[in-house]
Order: sequence, then structure tokens, then C-alpha cells
Amino acid sequence: MPDNIYFTGFMASGKTRIGKLLASHLKRHYVDSDAYIADRAKKSITEIFEQDGEAKFRELEKEAIREISKKKNVVVSLGGGAITQSENVHVIRDSGILICMRAEPEILCERIGRNNSRPLMAGLEPEERLEKINSMLADREKYYALADFRIDSNEGPPEERVLPQIMEALKLWEHLVARVELSSGACYPIFIGKNILKHVQVLLKKLKLFPQNEILVCTDSNIAKKQNDNLKMLRKKTGDSKSFVFPAGENSKQLEVLNRLWTFMLKNRYSRKSCLLQFSGGVVGDMAGFAAATYQRGISFVQIPTSLLAMVDSSVGGKVAINHTEGKNMIGAFYQPKAVMCDLAVLKTLPKEEFRAGLAEIVKYGIIYDAEFFQWLEKNANAIIEKDFAALKYIVKRSCEIKSAVVGEDEFELGLRAILNYGHTFGHAIEKITDYKKFSHGIAVGLGMRVAGRLSTITGRWSAEEENRQNELLTKFRIPKTLTQCKVECQLKAVWNAMASDKKADKKTRFYILPLKIGVVEKTSAPTKEQVLEAFKAVI
Ligand SMILES: NC(=O)c1ccc[n+]([C@@H]2O[C@H](COP(=O)([O-])OP(=O)(O)OC[C@H]3O[C@@H](n4cnc5c(N)ncnc54)[C@H](O)[C@@H]3O)[C@@H](O)[C@H]2O)c1
Ligand SMILES: [Zn+2]
Repeated sequence: MPDNIYFTGFMASGKTRIGKLLASHLKRHYVDSDAYIADRAKKSITEIFEQDGEAKFRELEKEAIREISKKKNVVVSLGGGAITQSENVHVIRDSGILICMRAEPEILCERIGRNNSRPLMAGLEPEERLEKINSMLADREKYYALADFRIDSNEGPPEERVLPQIMEALKLWEHLVARVELSSGACYPIFIGKNILKHVQVLLKKLKLFPQNEILVCTDSNIAKKQNDNLKMLRKKTGDSKSFVFPAGENSKQLEVLNRLWTFMLKNRYSRKSCLLQFSGGVVGDMAGFAAATYQRGISFVQIPTSLLAMVDSSVGGKVAINHTEGKNMIGAFYQPKAVMCDLAVLKTLPKEEFRAGLAEIVKYGIIYDAEFFQWLEKNANAIIEKDFAALKYIVKRSCEIKSAVVGEDEFELGLRAILNYGHTFGHAIEKITDYKKFSHGIAVGLGMRVAGRLSTITGRWSAEEENRQNELLTKFRIPKTLTQCKVECQLKAVWNAMASDKKADKKTRFYILPLKIGVVEKTSAPTKEQVLEAFKAVI
């Protein structure tokens, strides 16, 4: 269950009544933020506004919300303007979830009534009141959109209609582990748990994607077989939706195959209101995401990753793409999903090699961002290999947090986000020279990290001991040490050429992400061709 539960919404939307009801149902303390402020200031809210002005009130409100956020397990009804202050939104998100209560304008108008004491509405005739409500709702929409989800309080007794809806949503939101904040201020949730797929309908309903939108489930041929029961369940819970099955494998990630999906959608008359639910690894995730970004100029898209790599990497961050003969992921877009749902139970059918591929990307997060996490991985490597649930949950969660933090600071890859490419320049070259057939992406990246680590040692950026620590952890996670060991022969010249078409390598200058120590990397163009090729020998 989330720590604190905050309610926002228009006046008369029911946030106070429902807040109290939920608090008593969950046996939690209830706090009304306005009452809290008035109590502290020893004046009514109207008096604060009249005597000290709105700016002072907002200051007191920020203070109050900060204090309330430190309490554990409280249900809070917020004043109408609280979420117009971005600082408050951060405090709220860091300490719990935000629910927006909503009702149709006509219903709000009736509830508010003529003889009310609300300063903004007092004395207005019903028509004027409705007009005012509509214009205020339009102004506030961008703030209400900041809520984790919305609940309708339109009709019926809240005990029977509203409370069960909230309780149903909380069953999923208790698995909320991170949110990816976008430059617009909006964010999308990442859920991690075991057997949480069954909550898919609740998720879509709360995101207003169901039943309004027609759902299409995208997957690949392996998953359609090995996860058949879950696929059926997803389709059933999304209104007996259809599924589209790509042939499994990186080779599907191309225009011609994607075109089959576009054609299928057009022939089946999917509209702009459709939603793609991707239930697969990173390949279909990238393709379905690109299809969602482009189909009729953009439709909704939800990620349900099934591979470890997709859970910790490709499903978070909004990069979607297909490959081109000239290079990997060359044609694509930045297009964010509405939510990411990681059900660790589906990893049961994931082939071992694919599990290792995901672990390589997880080691990457330790190297680029978080030395403590790296150490944790070293200490808990055995539990991870044995797929201990708590260990898996922690590493997926921490990886998603790190990725969301990096993406949140650099949604469109203008700077910081480049660090996520650690190991990738070399990894992509390895994938390319082996025609994308020999290694799954994560394994190639693991080998690429060995090259990058060696390059850092050669160029005096970090020590040989640090390189060893990285390599030992990769070896513990059964990432191959060399290409020869995998029966791959390669020429350094071919590697150098393969790296040139990597889209991250500028035509003239080649950039590398190299560690300075565990937990810190830099982007640099300093290494010479000789140094780079020397480093590459580490994996030949
Ligand atoms: N968009 C991004 O930010 C980003 C980041 C990293 C990687 N990627 C892309 O992701 C792709 C790699 O992703 P991937 O490793 O998930 O590849 P993938 O989708 O091909 O999945 C790997 C293999 O595992 C199978 N599989 C997946 N989940 C399974 C399950 N639960 N049970 C049984 N089999 C299962 C798949 O059918 C496939 O054969 C690459 O194309 C890469 O470019 C994108
Ligand atoms: Zn990757």
C-alpha cells in the first residue's frame, strides 16, 4: 500500500468526503490540508487570504504539505490550488500517490448549489455557475493530469461506488515503484510485482484507456507460445482484444515487418483512440512503440515487458525504433508509454541466456551511476542468479529508478542520457559484425562493457582493479569473456568500420562513455583509434 494517499480535485468533487471515508476504511489518519494550515496559523483560510494575501497562503501551504508528507500512512485531502505548485507535486509524489476526484461539470454545478459560501461561486445563477465551472476546469486540467489516476464521483453513494474503485486501484498501485517524470511535468508509472498482470484492466481503466480505447496486444511468436495463458488473460481482460504476433528475434525489427502491423491495424479499422499493449521483450517493445508513435500520428501505448532486459532498460525512457540496413535503431522516435508493468512471474519462461543479457544491463547501471548498487550486486550475485524474488525485485526497481532519473533529466538525449550507452558503441559493433544473429543485445553490451572497461584502464581513467571488479561480476553473471570462446572470429578493421555507422558516433568525432571509477562515467572523444582497437583485443 502506498505510504500516503493524497486527494485533489475541483470543489465539490468529493475529495473531502472520500478522503475521510477511505481513511476510516483503511484505519489511517485523515488530514485536511486547509484545516491543518488554518490550525497552524490560528486563522481561517479566508482570513489568511484577506490579511496576508495568496502568496503567504501558498508559502504556508508548502510548509504544511512538507510536514504532512513526513507522516506515515495518512490520507490527505488537498486544497484546490495545492498541486498548481510544482514543489508540492514533488513532495506528494515522493511520499505517496495522488488521486484526482472528478465529476461532470453539471453534477459539480448542482452539488455546489446557489446558496453556497464558496467565494468564487456564491450567488451565481446555475447557468453562470456552470460556465464558470467549465472554464475553471479547463484551466486546471493540466494540473489534474499530474495525478496518478482519476476517480469518478459522479453518482451513487460513495461507499458503494467510489470506495471499491479506489480499493481496486490500490491493489495495483501498491506495486508502484517509480515514476518517469517528463519535461512536460507529467509522468508515467512503473509497477513491479509478481502476478500483477491480472490488474491490467484496472490499470487501463484508471488511465482512461479502457473501455474508451480499443486495445491491440502485440507480442512475438515465442511469447505467444510460452506465455500463452497470460496472453489469453490479457486479451480477455481488455475486452476480448485481438493480438498481433511478430516473428521472434532482432531480424523482425525492420520496416517491412512493421508495415504488416500498420496494415493489420488499418484493415481492422483501429482508430486514433486505440491503444497498443506490448507484451514482449525489447524487440517488439521498440517496434510496437514506434508503431504507436506513428499510427495516425500517435496512439496510446503501454509496456508490459517480458524479458529482464526489457524490464530494466528498453521499456523505460521512450526510445522506440526499428533497424535499418545502415545501422541499428536508426529510424525511430522519442515516444513515451502511458505505463510500464513488470510482472516478474513471466521471467519463469525466459531462456537463461536472455536472463544473463538483462543482468549485463543491470551491471551497467552500477558502473555508470551507483557504486553502492554495484556493490550490492557483487554481494547478492548468487541470490540473483537463483532468481530470488526479493533480489530480482530490488534490482529491477533500482535499475528502473536509475534509468528514470537519467531520462527524467534528459528526455531527448541531449546530454546526460548518453551515459546509458556505456558498452553500447562496442556492443552494437559486435551485434553488427555477427549480423544480429549470434548474441542477444544484452550479451553484446556485456562484451562491450569489457572493451570500455579496458579502454578506461589503458587510458588511465580507472584502475586495473576496478576493471577486474566489473569483469568479475560480468563473469559471475555468465557474460562471455571473449568472442573466440563464443566461436566468433573477428577482424579489428571490421569492428572499427562497424562502429562508424553507430548513430552515436559523429561523422568526424567518435565519442565513448568511459568509467572514471565505479559509479562515475564520462563522455569523451579523447581515445585514439590505436587505443580503441587495443582495448577491443580484450574480447577477441
Ligand atoms: N528502447 C530502448 O531504450 C532500448 C534499450 C535497450 C534495448 N533496446 C532494444 O531491445 C532489444 C533487445 O531486447 P530483448 O533482449 O528483450 O530482446 P527480445 O525482445 O528479442 O527478447 C529476447 C528473446 O527472449 C524471448 N522472450 C522474451 N521474454 C520471454 C519470456 N518471458 N518467456 C520466454 N521467452 C521470452 C523473445 O521471444 C526473444 O526470443 C534490442 O532490439 C535493443 O535494441 C531498446
Ligand atoms: Zn541496451
